Amino acid sequence: MPVVPLHELLATARTGGYGVAAINVVNDLSIEAVLAAAAQERAPVVLQTSVKTVKQYGAAPLHAIVSAIADAIDVPYVLHLDHCPDRAVITDCLANGWGSVLFDAHDLDVAENLRQTIEVVAEARAAGADVEGEIEGIQGVEDGIGSDARTKQQTLEIAIDFIRRSGVDVFAPSIGNAHGRYTQAPVLDAERITALVAATGVPQALHGGTGMTDDQFRDLIARGCAKVNISTALKEAYMKSGWEFLRGAAERDVWDPPSLFRAQRQAVLDMAAGHMRLFGSAGRA
Ligand code: 13P
Repeated sequence: MPVVPLHELLATARTGGYGVAAINVVNDLSIEAVLAAAAQERAPVVLQTSVKTVKQYGAAPLHAIVSAIADAIDVPYVLHLDHCPDRAVITDCLANGWGSVLFDAHDLDVAENLRQTIEVVAEARAAGADVEGEIEGIQGVEDGIGSDARTKQQTLEIAIDFIRRSGVDVFAPSIGNAHGRYTQAPVLDAERITALVAATGVPQALHGGTGMTDDQFRDLIARGCAKVNISTALKEAYMKSGWEFLRGAAERDVWDPPSLFRAQRQAVLDMAAGHMRLFGSAGRA
């Protein structure tokens, strides 16, 4: 399967008026299921790995698993590192073939974040890779990274200046979105997406996708969210299908691991394919 630079994938998505599903994978089964969904739907896709997943496998083995599975599939994809505040992990992933990284330095003040993001962009360019930037925390904990507290919001001017001066390929704004399940329907600052894209031309990454309404997705994609992140929905599909299956296995007292894996694969594949159709990326590859 062709590896395509993230900025190209997102530029094509902006022109076509659709969003690319960026789905957090957790193991070989979920990698295969998401890629199978992309192949089934003829959709470009971003496979995202958390720092935790990178550390669980090691960057080189994880990249080898992705490439081996992706070899059989002929739609474009990017392997992306999700929220990473740790420069050493970024360097490791870039050295091992990741096509894109989110340098999440929102804990630093904006000037220091900018200084370091410029360095990360240079490092990524040397490796032929792209960078997502972030200056405000997205509420909620994602695989051990982040916080449930709201972090400081920056002005629109500061965000625009950061995007322009850092040279990032995609930006992760905080617009009232949050990782994990929303306890109430999110109220999103969609105008901020329009303003950021109008001022910079840089596509935006919509974090906290799980739990947004179909209309919110469509509106935000039309405004410039070309990368749409989904993680919790995969975890739920994976775990709940496993739970359902194991309840049946216990009733029958039949214990066949490949049957469990098939049930989980199908649940993850259906979840991913549904999002690709919703985001308008189906049929674009
Ligand atoms: P959800 O877990 O809410 O789908 O958010 C995913 C995400 O933004 C990953 O960075």
